[in-house]
This record gives sequence, C-alpha cells and structure tokens, in this order.
Amino acid sequence: MKSSLKVRPVRSINGTIEVPGDKSMSHRAIMLAGLADGTSRITGFLPSEDCLCTLRAFQALGANIRRTSPTTLEIEGNGGNCRQVLEPIDCGNSGTSMRLLAGILVAQPFTSKLVGDASLSSRPMKRIIEPLNLMGGTVISEYGNDRAPLIINGDRIHPINYDIPVASAQVKSAIMLAAMFAEGATTITEPHKSRDHSERMFRHYHVPIRVDGNTVIVHGRCLPHPEDFFVPGDISSAAFWMGAAAVKEGSHLVIENVGLNPTRTGIISVLLRMGAHIKECIKGGKNGEPFGSVEITGARLHGTKISGPEIPTLIDEIPLISVVGALAQGETVISDAKELRVKETDRIAVMAKCLRAFGIEVEECEDGMVIQGGADIRGATVDSHGDHRVAMSCAILGLHATGRTTITNCECIATSYPGFEDTLEAVMEGKLRQIDNRTKNRLAMMPDTEK
Ligand code: S3P
Repeated sequence: MKSSLKVRPVRSINGTIEVPGDKSMSHRAIMLAGLADGTSRITGFLPSEDCLCTLRAFQALGANIRRTSPTTLEIEGNGGNCRQVLEPIDCGNSGTSMRLLAGILVAQPFTSKLVGDASLSSRPMKRIIEPLNLMGGTVISEYGNDRAPLIINGDRIHPINYDIPVASAQVKSAIMLAAMFAEGATTITEPHKSRDHSERMFRHYHVPIRVDGNTVIVHGRCLPHPEDFFVPGDISSAAFWMGAAAVKEGSHLVIENVGLNPTRTGIISVLLRMGAHIKECIKGGKNGEPFGSVEITGARLHGTKISGPEIPTLIDEIPLISVVGALAQGETVISDAKELRVKETDRIAVMAKCLRAFGIEVEECEDGMVIQGGADIRGATVDSHGDHRVAMSCAILGLHATGRTTITNCECIATSYPGFEDTLEAVMEGKLRQIDNRTKNRLAMMPDTEK
C-alpha cells in the first residue's frame, strides 16, 4: 500500500466487484475456532493487518493455524487450554483484537500483557476493564489511565449481570468470551443492539446462548466445538463503493457475496432514505450470517437525519455517509454518534477538517455533524491522520470532485481493506468489469453448503 493515494474524478462507476472478507467475523472465527477442541477451516478470511494481529496472538496462545491460501485458514484449536505468552501481545491498531482477547485472557490461569500502536493506546479501555474485573479478573491499565497497555492477571471467572452503558459489540463480545469460561449464566444488556456476529457465531460453534431483544445470556463452562466457517465480504468495505455509485447518476454497480447481517445494513437503509436505487438479494448464509449481492444504480440523492438506534448499525460507515451527505442535495444531520470520537481517530473532528478542505460547509457537534450538501467540490490534499476509514472516504470524495485529490498517510488502509487501491485504480480507469474473474474465483472457493 502506497503512503499516499492520488485520485481523479470519474464520470460513472460501472461493473461487478467483490470486497475482502468481513473484519469482525474474521477476528471471531480465529478466536472461536482457536479455542475449539479440533480442526476448523475458515474460508474468505480477511488477511488485513488487524486480523493478522489476532491470528498471531492465537498462534502464540497455542492454536495451530495454517494459511493454505491468503484467505483460507486451517485452525486446530487449543481446546481452551491457552499457552502462556510471556512477551507482550501486539494488537497493532486493532481495538477488536485487544478488547476481545482481554475477555479470553482474563479467564486463563496466567498473566498476559496486551499492547497496541499509538492510536490504540489512546482509546478507552475502562469499558472492558470494569465488567471483566466484576467477573473476578484483574485487568490493569499499566499507566493507570484506563488505556493500553493492559496487564491481565487471569483468574477463575464468575458470571455477572451487566448493563453496557453504550452499545458496543466489542464490549459485549469481550464479556461473552469471558462468560464461556464462567460457571453459570452471564446476562449482558445493551441500550441499543450492536452487531450480533458473536451471538450468531457462538451458536455456529455450539456455545449455548440465548438472545432476548437487547439482552444476551451466555451459559458458561461450554467451549466452542470445531466448525468450518465461510466469511462473506465486509459490508463496511463494500459501503465505499455503494456510496460512490449511489450518488453518481449513470452508474451501475453490483457487489457480490457481501455480508448482509441486518445489524450491519444501516448504510443501505440510509442510502435508500436519501433516494438511492439499491436492490439487495440474499443468496446464502447457512452458517448464520446472511450474504448476497447488492445492486446500485446511480441517482440524485438528498440529505437525511441519522440518530439513535440506527447509529450502531452503521457506526463504521459514518465517515462515508458524511461524504455522501456532501454530494447529496440539502442538509445531512448526524447525531447520537459520540462514539466516533474514540475510534481510530476522533472521526468527527478529522472528517469535518477533511470535508472543509474540499470546500464543504460542515458544523461539528459534540455527538455528530451537520453537512451542507450540493456545493461544488474541489479536489484537495488531505491527511487521513492514519485512519483507514477516513482515507477511503476521502478517496471516494475525490472521485466526485473537480480536479485532483491527494490523500496522505494511507498505509493504514491495510488494516481493513487490502486491495482497495487496486479497485480504486480500476474505477478511475473505467475497467471495473475486468476484475469480474475475482468473483468467479471466490465463488469457486465457497463451500457448497454456503452456495
Ligand atoms: C467491532 C465493533 C465496533 C466497530 C469496530 C468492530 C467489532 O466497535 O466500530 O470496527 O468487531 O465488534 P465498538 O464495539 O467499539 O462500537
């Protein structure tokens, strides 16, 4: 991945594409298969920097993981008997790796240390420290600032009833993973429903759970059993191309084999509300995770309001939605999204700064932003601040601006979307159809039970 991206405007976006595997599912597949008492085959795995951190961590914890292709893993789990890792476990830029691994390590009979890069070391960890310590663990922030590095003195874990203050799949999943090792039932309630991959994947890996509205109950002392798992394309990666095509009249784009879990499809609902022409077609998902194709026909879009329970269903797509809002007619208002301030960067502040550089009028609020759409957009040079979703969102804006755009600090894209640059290049060259073959290859890789 080059350190800067150069983007030129396009007239329309036409073709059929696929995106790499879902990041959330790839992390969880390694963890659940890695704890199982046998061998599981994971296909469609996302070989991004974030997921490779989880992969290396699980190898160190005693799972035998072979990569038989860049996107296929054969995982012989450690049966729940994790091996002590004496050196710090490096989670890089990945909040999912750190928070979910903490849930597993807190239940192991040894001490571990989790570290991350500068961005991850500035993100709040009290949200997992508090519930995991209530379960009987000792998770300590090394510098006493509720941030990483985290020292985890594993112990016997007991069940809790816990209300999570802010909807968060990472917090919910950290508690669920710890709860597998506890004697008795742990009950976790969220104010709004966050992505439910852990719930679906626990069931797939035969860990007994019950879901009742926004409450999840995990019955402890039951570890995963091996199962093969197909990871569909990541809707958060597909979202960049969905937004890019939806707002460009004359475009026609099909995205194949993308995850369509309803706790993640908020981006489609928002684009439809803005006047987009999108058709969803579910084609498979016997492992509990629906996937299929999304067909987008470009149209003139108008602004919308996004708030409340919809926010967790599109939390990672808000930088892209702010870009689509700028390209649509009228005002787009995003609120109740304070969580954006503690992502890989403060995404409210960083996106507002980037949008202004393109000549867009943006009001920054504590919990969101108001974007005035429809103005002329001029190409700009912007810094991603090392945030992958900011970098890719600005690239999409560059496709719709007049003149050239340069985005600096783009190595970060490798944390979630290897291959983004190739697809961007194909879009700019008007050669998207030429990568149709990838779709065929991926379909050939998919187990028959998933087709
Ligand atoms: C994720 C949950 C979300 C999301 C992140 C991945 C997950 O974070 O932003 O990219 O895999 O559980 P929060 O749980 O902090 O909302």
